[in-house]
Amino acid sequence: MTDPASPWLVVNKHRPLSPADYVPADLIQPNIALAVSGESAQLNSTTAAAAEQMFATAAGDGVTMTLASGYRSYGTQVATYNSYVASRGQAEADTASARPGFSEHQTGWAFDIGDGGGACGFQPCFAEQPAAVWAKANAHRFGFVVRYPWMFHQITGYYYESWHLRYIGVEAATDMAAKGIATLEEYFGLEAAPGYL
Ligand code: DAL
Ligand code: ZN
Repeated sequence: MTDPASPWLVVNKHRPLSPADYVPADLIQPNIALAVSGESAQLNSTTAAAAEQMFATAAGDGVTMTLASGYRSYGTQVATYNSYVASRGQAEADTASARPGFSEHQTGWAFDIGDGGGACGFQPCFAEQPAAVWAKANAHRFGFVVRYPWMFHQITGYYYESWHLRYIGVEAATDMAAKGIATLEEYFGLEAAPGYL
Protein backbone atom coordinates (compact mmCIF):
# COMPACT_ATOMS: atom_id res chain seq x y z
CA MET A 1 0.00 0.00 0.00
CA THR A 2 3.06 2.28 0.01
CA ASP A 3 4.70 0.98 -3.18
CA PRO A 4 3.69 3.30 -6.04
CA ALA A 5 4.15 0.43 -8.49
CA SER A 6 1.53 -1.68 -6.65
CA PRO A 7 -2.14 -1.57 -7.67
CA TRP A 8 -2.95 -1.57 -3.95
CA LEU A 9 -1.06 1.66 -3.32
CA VAL A 10 -3.06 4.06 -1.20
CA VAL A 11 -2.12 7.69 -1.67
CA ASN A 12 -4.10 10.36 0.15
CA LYS A 13 -3.54 13.50 2.25
CA HIS A 14 -1.83 11.41 4.95
CA ARG A 15 0.09 9.21 2.55
CA PRO A 16 2.30 11.08 0.06
CA LEU A 17 4.02 9.36 -2.80
CA SER A 18 7.54 8.18 -2.08
CA PRO A 19 9.55 9.42 -3.82
CA ALA A 20 7.53 12.61 -4.26
CA ASP A 21 8.69 12.87 -7.86
CA TYR A 22 7.87 9.22 -8.69
CA VAL A 23 7.50 8.44 -12.39
CA PRO A 24 5.97 5.09 -13.48
CA ALA A 25 8.39 3.01 -15.54
CA ASP A 26 5.79 1.67 -17.96
CA LEU A 27 3.71 4.62 -19.16
CA ILE A 28 1.93 3.99 -22.44
CA GLN A 29 -0.89 5.53 -24.43
CA PRO A 30 -3.95 3.27 -24.32
CA ASN A 31 -5.89 2.50 -27.47
CA ILE A 32 -9.07 4.30 -26.38
CA ALA A 33 -10.86 7.54 -27.26
CA LEU A 34 -8.65 10.38 -26.11
CA ALA A 35 -9.80 13.87 -25.13
CA VAL A 36 -6.21 14.86 -24.31
CA SER A 37 -2.74 14.36 -25.77
CA GLY A 38 0.82 13.97 -24.59
CA GLU A 39 1.55 13.00 -21.00
CA SER A 40 -2.15 13.25 -19.99
CA ALA A 41 -3.04 10.57 -22.54
CA GLN A 42 -0.78 8.03 -20.83
CA LEU A 43 -1.42 5.43 -18.13
CA ASN A 44 0.72 2.70 -16.65
CA SER A 45 0.61 -0.45 -18.76
CA THR A 46 -1.70 -2.47 -16.47
CA THR A 47 -4.20 0.38 -16.17
CA ALA A 48 -4.03 1.02 -19.91
CA ALA A 49 -4.94 -2.60 -20.71
CA ALA A 50 -7.84 -2.55 -18.25
CA ALA A 51 -9.05 0.78 -19.62
CA GLU A 52 -9.03 -0.62 -23.16
CA GLN A 53 -11.29 -3.48 -22.06
CA MET A 54 -13.60 -1.21 -20.09
CA PHE A 55 -13.97 1.42 -22.83
CA ALA A 56 -14.66 -1.26 -25.44
CA THR A 57 -17.30 -2.91 -23.26
CA ALA A 58 -18.92 0.47 -22.52
CA ALA A 59 -18.98 1.23 -26.25
CA GLY A 60 -20.66 -2.13 -26.82
CA ASP A 61 -23.34 -1.01 -24.35
CA GLY A 62 -23.74 2.22 -26.32
CA VAL A 63 -21.86 4.36 -23.81
CA THR A 64 -19.19 6.76 -25.06
CA MET A 65 -16.24 7.23 -22.75
CA THR A 66 -13.16 9.36 -23.33
CA LEU A 67 -9.89 9.70 -21.46
CA ALA A 68 -10.12 13.23 -20.05
CA SER A 69 -6.98 13.19 -17.89
CA GLY A 70 -4.54 10.36 -17.26
CA TYR A 71 -0.96 10.54 -16.03
CA ARG A 72 0.23 13.79 -14.53
CA SER A 73 3.87 14.28 -13.64
CA TYR A 74 4.88 15.99 -10.37
CA GLY A 75 5.59 19.14 -12.37
CA THR A 76 2.20 19.07 -14.06
CA GLN A 77 0.48 18.59 -10.71
CA VAL A 78 2.31 21.70 -9.44
CA ALA A 79 0.71 23.70 -12.26
CA THR A 80 -2.71 22.01 -11.88
CA TYR A 81 -2.86 22.57 -8.12
CA ASN A 82 -1.55 26.13 -8.36
CA SER A 83 -4.21 27.05 -10.90
CA TYR A 84 -6.93 25.78 -8.52
CA VAL A 85 -5.39 27.80 -5.68
CA ALA A 86 -5.22 30.90 -7.89
CA SER A 87 -8.88 30.66 -8.88
CA ARG A 88 -10.49 29.37 -5.67
CA GLY A 89 -8.04 29.82 -2.81
CA GLN A 90 -6.13 27.09 -1.05
CA ALA A 91 -8.87 25.73 1.24
CA GLU A 92 -11.25 25.06 -1.63
CA ALA A 93 -8.45 23.89 -3.93
CA ASP A 94 -7.58 21.22 -1.37
CA THR A 95 -11.08 19.71 -1.66
CA ALA A 96 -10.69 19.13 -5.40
CA SER A 97 -7.02 18.93 -6.39
CA ALA A 98 -4.18 17.03 -4.77
CA ARG A 99 -1.01 18.82 -3.79
CA PRO A 100 2.05 17.80 -5.83
CA GLY A 101 3.33 14.40 -4.65
CA PHE A 102 -0.13 13.44 -3.32
CA SER A 103 -2.02 12.68 -6.54
CA GLU A 104 -3.07 9.29 -7.85
CA HIS A 105 -2.68 10.75 -11.33
CA GLN A 106 1.09 10.73 -10.80
CA THR A 107 1.06 6.94 -10.39
CA GLY A 108 -0.52 6.00 -13.71
CA TRP A 109 -3.15 4.01 -11.75
CA ALA A 110 -5.88 6.65 -12.08
CA PHE A 111 -7.61 8.65 -14.77
CA ASP A 112 -10.61 10.86 -15.33
CA ILE A 113 -13.30 9.97 -17.84
CA GLY A 114 -15.34 12.24 -20.08
CA ASP A 115 -18.16 11.45 -22.44
CA GLY A 116 -16.94 13.16 -25.57
CA GLY A 117 -19.19 16.18 -25.27
CA GLY A 118 -21.62 18.02 -23.10
CA ALA A 119 -21.01 20.64 -20.47
CA CYS A 120 -20.68 18.32 -17.50
CA GLY A 121 -17.02 17.37 -17.79
CA PHE A 122 -15.42 17.48 -14.32
CA GLN A 123 -18.70 18.93 -12.99
CA PRO A 124 -21.14 17.58 -10.38
CA CYS A 125 -23.70 16.92 -13.16
CA PHE A 126 -21.30 14.41 -14.76
CA ALA A 127 -22.57 11.92 -12.16
CA GLU A 128 -25.89 11.74 -14.03
CA GLN A 129 -24.35 11.28 -17.49
CA PRO A 130 -24.37 7.81 -19.07
CA ALA A 131 -20.58 7.41 -18.86
CA ALA A 132 -20.53 7.98 -15.09
CA VAL A 133 -23.66 5.92 -14.43
CA TRP A 134 -22.18 3.04 -16.42
CA ALA A 135 -18.78 3.36 -14.74
CA LYS A 136 -20.29 3.39 -11.25
CA ALA A 137 -22.16 0.16 -12.02
CA ASN A 138 -19.51 -1.66 -14.05
CA ALA A 139 -16.00 -0.32 -13.38
CA HIS A 140 -15.26 -3.01 -10.77
CA ARG A 141 -15.55 -5.70 -13.47
CA PHE A 142 -12.40 -4.21 -15.03
CA GLY A 143 -10.57 -3.54 -11.76
CA PHE A 144 -11.59 0.07 -11.17
CA VAL A 145 -13.22 1.93 -8.31
CA VAL A 146 -14.76 5.39 -8.21
CA ARG A 147 -12.08 6.65 -5.85
CA TYR A 148 -13.83 9.73 -4.43
CA PRO A 149 -17.44 8.71 -3.84
CA TRP A 150 -20.36 10.92 -2.83
CA MET A 151 -20.27 12.03 0.81
CA PHE A 152 -17.02 10.31 1.74
CA HIS A 153 -14.82 13.42 1.72
CA GLN A 154 -14.24 13.06 5.46
CA ILE A 155 -12.42 9.84 4.66
CA THR A 156 -10.92 10.46 1.21
CA GLY A 157 -10.21 14.18 1.55
CA TYR A 158 -12.04 15.10 -1.67
CA TYR A 159 -15.58 15.84 -2.72
CA TYR A 160 -17.37 13.48 -5.09
CA GLU A 161 -15.54 12.95 -8.38
CA SER A 162 -17.80 10.74 -10.48
CA TRP A 163 -15.17 10.89 -13.26
CA HIS A 164 -12.06 9.74 -11.33
CA LEU A 165 -11.40 6.00 -11.64
CA ARG A 166 -8.61 4.13 -9.93
CA TYR A 167 -7.28 0.69 -10.84
CA ILE A 168 -6.86 -1.76 -7.95
CA GLY A 169 -7.33 -5.04 -9.83
CA VAL A 170 -10.46 -7.02 -10.66
CA GLU A 171 -10.35 -9.16 -7.53
CA ALA A 172 -10.08 -6.28 -5.06
CA ALA A 173 -12.51 -4.02 -6.93
CA THR A 174 -15.09 -6.80 -7.17
CA ASP A 175 -14.61 -7.67 -3.49
CA MET A 176 -15.07 -4.02 -2.49
CA ALA A 177 -18.25 -3.78 -4.53
CA ALA A 178 -19.60 -7.05 -3.13
CA LYS A 179 -18.92 -5.90 0.44
CA GLY A 180 -20.36 -2.45 -0.21
CA ILE A 181 -17.16 -0.72 0.91
CA ALA A 182 -16.87 2.73 -0.65
CA THR A 183 -13.29 3.84 -0.03
CA LEU A 184 -9.79 2.40 -0.24
CA GLU A 185 -9.10 3.74 3.25
CA GLU A 186 -11.88 1.59 4.72
CA TYR A 187 -11.13 -1.42 2.52
CA PHE A 188 -7.47 -1.53 3.53
CA GLY A 189 -8.14 -0.55 7.16
CA LEU A 190 -6.33 2.78 6.97
CA GLU A 191 -7.09 5.98 8.85
CA ALA A 192 -9.35 8.59 7.33
CA ALA A 193 -7.46 11.39 5.62
CA PRO A 194 -9.72 14.45 5.49
CA GLY A 195 -6.85 16.92 5.54
CA TYR A 196 -3.07 17.27 5.33
CA LEU A 197 -1.06 16.53 8.46
N1 DAL B 1 -8.49 15.45 -8.28
C1 DAL B 1 -7.66 14.47 -7.63
C2 DAL B 1 -7.95 14.44 -6.18
C3 DAL B 1 -6.20 14.74 -7.89
O1 DAL B 1 -5.86 15.91 -8.05
O2 DAL B 1 -5.43 13.81 -7.87
ZN1 ZN C 1 -8.77 12.53 -11.34
